[in-house]
Amino acid sequence: MNDTVSSLATLVADAAAAFDAAPTPAELENAKARFLGKSGRLTELLKGLAALAPEEKKAQGARINEAKQQVEAALNARRQALADAELAQQLRAEALDVTLPGRTPGQGGLHPVTRAMERIEQIFGSMGFDVADGPEIEADWFNFTALNTPQDHPARSMHDTFYVEGGYVLRTHTSPMQIRYAVQHVKRHKHLLDAGLPMPEIRVIAPGRTYRVDSDATHSPMFHQVEGLWVGENISFKDLKAVYVDFIQAFFETKDLEIRFRPSYFPFTEPSAEIDMKFATGPLAGRWLEVSGSGQVHPQVIRNMGLDPERYIGFAFGSGIDRLAMLRYGVNDLRLFFDGDLRFLRQFA
Ligand code: PHE
Repeated sequence: MNDTVSSLATLVADAAAAFDAAPTPAELENAKARFLGKSGRLTELLKGLAALAPEEKKAQGARINEAKQQVEAALNARRQALADAELAQQLRAEALDVTLPGRTPGQGGLHPVTRAMERIEQIFGSMGFDVADGPEIEADWFNFTALNTPQDHPARSMHDTFYVEGGYVLRTHTSPMQIRYAVQHVKRHKHLLDAGLPMPEIRVIAPGRTYRVDSDATHSPMFHQVEGLWVGENISFKDLKAVYVDFIQAFFETKDLEIRFRPSYFPFTEPSAEIDMKFATGPLAGRWLEVSGSGQVHPQVIRNMGLDPERYIGFAFGSGIDRLAMLRYGVNDLRLFFDGDLRFLRQFA
């Protein structure tokens, strides 16, 4: 009997050792089969009970059952240990580093032309100019006729202009804003004019998109202009010169440049001039660059604004914003601005 007890104790110890040595659940199940399976060592012992006398059978059965419980306890302990290890491993593998910086939405930046536009608005704003916005699909009247541009003027040709049905065009310049803004201004101050009293001056810039049938390194079918208009009772060409020189110096942050007014022709100004500038230093030093059309507002245009040309006089200019942005940022092809290539655009953000 002692023999049986010690062999049962050995069996339990063997089983516990085998279970503990199993590195995976699958191998643990194999080890289990060797003790508790159909022909496992414990199962064989239980089968052997059949051959014993009833008294013996009862005592031996109880001992075997006790051993079986110990083997099962060892098995469950190992199962639990393997499951715990697996969970710990999984937690380690899926660990989150909460000290990592969070994911932020991508940062946008302003387009260089927008930057130039905002800069222009800021500079003219500081000189007391209002900023106005107007339609890009413009009536023939505002784009041409009111600006003293006759029906047969070359600027009206199909070649230069995108025509839209119904007497509309994609505006070919920002000059229609001269009329739109002035007409509103005059309407607002009608009571003063009716009473023969002086009207506050018109002082406005109107930046925005403009369109022409044109495309090369310095022309795009869509481009940007800024219109400037200053009308009062005593506004002369020398005011235009002072304002424009101040603007260009502020825009390029240097006084190291020259500006010249070159006689030109526009139907809506008389006299008219192109404004050219020349840097004294830098990669473009010494070259005259055209940046704007300008002139004294034509008497017929003053009349179309609803004002008396005998009393009111002023100047206007229309400058290429893209050209100014190219010069400021050293960009040599206008089309880069409108290709939408982020490698180019990110440099300005
Ligand atoms: N609108 C003219 C152009 O686009 C520029 C201009 C504006 C000229 C105002 C004179 C006065 O070429």
